[in-house]
Amino acid sequence: MDARRVIAKLRDREEPSQAELSWFARGLASGGVTDAQAGAFAMAACLNGLSEEARVALTLAMRDSGDVLTWDLPGAVIDKHSTGGIGDCTSLLLAPMLAAAGAYVPMISGRGLGHTGGTLDKLEAIPGVVTDVDEARFRAITRDIGCAIVSAASDMAPADKRLYAVRDVTSTVESVDLITASILSKKLAAGLEALILDVKTGSGAFMVSLEDSTALAESLVKTANGAGCKTAALITDMDQPLAPAAGNALEVAVIMEALTAPKNSRLIEVTLALGAELLVLAGIENDPEKAAVKLSETLTNGKAVEIFDRMIAELGGPKDFSGDWQRRLPEANVIREIAAPEAGVVAGLDGRGIGMGVVHMGGGRLKGGERIDPSVGYSEIVELGEKVVKGQPLARLHARSERSAQAAEKAFLEAVTIGDAASPGPLIVAKVG
Ligand code: URA
Repeated sequence: MDARRVIAKLRDREEPSQAELSWFARGLASGGVTDAQAGAFAMAACLNGLSEEARVALTLAMRDSGDVLTWDLPGAVIDKHSTGGIGDCTSLLLAPMLAAAGAYVPMISGRGLGHTGGTLDKLEAIPGVVTDVDEARFRAITRDIGCAIVSAASDMAPADKRLYAVRDVTSTVESVDLITASILSKKLAAGLEALILDVKTGSGAFMVSLEDSTALAESLVKTANGAGCKTAALITDMDQPLAPAAGNALEVAVIMEALTAPKNSRLIEVTLALGAELLVLAGIENDPEKAAVKLSETLTNGKAVEIFDRMIAELGGPKDFSGDWQRRLPEANVIREIAAPEAGVVAGLDGRGIGMGVVHMGGGRLKGGERIDPSVGYSEIVELGEKVVKGQPLARLHARSERSAQAAEKAFLEAVTIGDAASPGPLIVAKVG
């Protein structure tokens, strides 16, 4: 086969065959396909799009470019994926809740990307935790505890690793077809029976408009089902941070509060909705409302926190973390309130601005591979629609230095709009699939 032939087909809006896409994906993984060819492939796919059939074929080809896990466990193997947002720490809460409900959750997660945080960075804010484990350990933790949140082993979906790096420097990240194949090739390599997708929409999401978010959700759901994994998506609001915190250790603190003293919150509402749909997809429950009750009991009966503690200890973190998490999480040098500059109603909380505020404090990366500071970020962030008086705290900021705190305060205030009224939309916007 010849890479030029596959690229020419995409260029001329003909569909490459499954065999050609498999060959191309293997070439991406082995280096047999050059960077120039990978870039041309990505651009042709980006400009001309792929049919549903070709998207499924590319996803399967990329999944099969490396190891694909198979399981023999006494329960359903399921997972959740979020397209990313601000204060979105749902995975840390949902994985142990699902495990406590009898499922197995081999959760391969990512690091922060652009203005959004990443589950692995959050988990590693807990002292000692290392998420880079080998496949045997990943399997053992999933089998013994019910959930494991880890980074992808280098031999899982290696074609995606290569193509993603090429897309990053060729302005082809935005293609819905390539995003779909990228996300799903990694998730499906974990050998899932069912998957729920949380596709974010709004100012803090990658897809800001509902139209774009819906197109991505539909592409992901159709492709994952076409590839043999029972999948649905919820489109959820990201016009304000999901949790009242943005920053790695600060979001872990929110999770620990939810696990140890659960109270109604936007975070718990989204987590229960995603988890309930997933338990129904997997055939563990047959009614989402009953499934949500069952999941919520895993918080109140202490089972989810027990599983979380065991997973943290297995990943190298402290034993019984939930017993003294307040003492163990890293604290920033400068902690202070950000005061409202005027009275009114919180009418806008630009997620991208808040996320970039965290990145610039050192809580995210401006370049790949940078070390991050887990202690920094914003906590106690107000919600849309809240009435504030002048001088009232809008959030607390946690920074490394006074200089960084001043820049972070400015970034936050620029991200907040105080007006006369607010009209926050629904938290769960739509279901796809
Ligand atoms: N996340 C991924 O894993 N891949 C993409 O292409 C975009 C987001």
